[in-house]
Amino acid sequence: MLAALAGEVRQRPPFWLMRQAGRYLPEYRELRAKAGSFLDMCYNPDHAVEVTLQPLRRYDMDAAILFSDILVVPHALGQPLAFQEGEGPKLDPVRNVEDLKRLSRDRFHERLEPVYETVRRLSRAIPAHTTLIGFAGAPWTIACYMVEGAGSKEYAHVKRWAYGDPAGFGALMDLLVEVTADYLCTQIEAGAEVVQLFDSWAGVLPAGEFRRWVIEPTRRIVDLVKARHPSIPVIGFPRGAGLSYEAYVAGSGVDAVGLDTTVPVAWAAGNLQSRLPVQGNLDPIMLAAGGEALRSAAWEILEALAGKPFVFNLGHGVIQTTPPEHVAELARLIKDWPNRG
Ligand code: CP3
Repeated sequence: MLAALAGEVRQRPPFWLMRQAGRYLPEYRELRAKAGSFLDMCYNPDHAVEVTLQPLRRYDMDAAILFSDILVVPHALGQPLAFQEGEGPKLDPVRNVEDLKRLSRDRFHERLEPVYETVRRLSRAIPAHTTLIGFAGAPWTIACYMVEGAGSKEYAHVKRWAYGDPAGFGALMDLLVEVTADYLCTQIEAGAEVVQLFDSWAGVLPAGEFRRWVIEPTRRIVDLVKARHPSIPVIGFPRGAGLSYEAYVAGSGVDAVGLDTTVPVAWAAGNLQSRLPVQGNLDPIMLAAGGEALRSAAWEILEALAGKPFVFNLGHGVIQTTPPEHVAELARLIKDWPNRG
C-alpha cells in the first residue's frame, strides 16, 4: 500500500474496501447488538479495535481503516449527534454565524481521545504487512451534515448559506480546516500511516463553488498536515467530482485520489494516473451482485489501472446486503491477478 502510494507498481495492486468493517459481517452485527449504539462502538477502543480487525481476519486486506465515523468531528465540537436505527445521522443544525457560537474547540481532543487510543492500539495489533489508514471527512461534506442536520437530496440549506453568505459560511469552513488538520495529525502521531479525506458530497457543487469549498479547503488541510508530517500520504476522495476530478488532482495537493464508481477507468488512466496514484472504483452494488458481472468488472478495472500506481477499492462503501463470500471472491481475484493468462 505504501509503495503504491509512493508511485511504485508491484506484481499485484494493494487492496482495501471503504466500509470494509460493518453490517454485512455477522460478527459485526453480533458485537453491535451487545455494544449498544453505533456511536458507543466508535468511542469504545475495545470494540472499535475488534471491529477494525474483523475484515482483516477474513480477507487479509493490505490496509486497515480505523473504525469510527466522519461525524465525530462535529460531535467533538459540541454539536449534538445521534444515529437513529435505519435513518442515518441526525444533528442539531447550525445555519448561520450566530449558531456557530454553540460550537467550541475547548474539549475537542479530549472528546476524541478514545479514537486516538483506538489508533494506538491498532498500530500494535495489525499485522506488519498491513497499512493503518486514519481518516476524516473533508470540510465541505462535514458542513453538509452540520448545516442540513442529516443527509439530504438537495443540500439546499448548506448551499444557500455558502452562496449567499460566503464570509459567514467561510468561518465554519475555516474552523473545520483547522480542527480537521489537527485531528489527522493527532491520528498520525498515534500511529496512522496514511490518511484519507472523505468528501462524499463534493459532487453537488458547480465548478466555481467546487474550487472554493472542496479544492481550497483540502489544499489547506494537506499543507497543514504536510507541515507536521511531510512523509505521510494523503488520499482525497471527492466523490462525484466528475469533470472536476482533473482540477482536484491539479489543485488540492493530495498524494492519491479516490475514484467514484462513475469515473471511466480508461479516462482516469490517461488523465489522472499520469500525475498521481489512483484508488477505486468497483461499484459496491457489483460486489453485492457477485458472479460473472463482478469478475468482469473487477478485471476491467485491473486491466486499465494496475499497470500504473494503483490501489484497488470500491467507488463507495460496502453495502449492508453484500454477501461476505463475494468479498472473499474479490480478494481471491485480486490476489490471483499476477497469475492471469
Ligand atoms: O470504512 C470503514 O470500514 C471505516 C469506518 C467508517 C464508517 N463510516 C463506519 C460506519 C467510515 C470511514 C465512515 C465514513 C462516513 N460516515 C462517510 C464518508 C463515506 C461515505 O460513505 O460517503 C459518511 C458520509 C458517514 C456518515 C454516516 N455514517 C452515515 C450517512 C451513516 C448512516 C448510513 C448507514 O449505512 O446506516 C453512518 C453510519 C455508519 N458509519 C455505519 C458504519 C459501520 C453503520 C452504523 C451501524 O452499525 O448501524
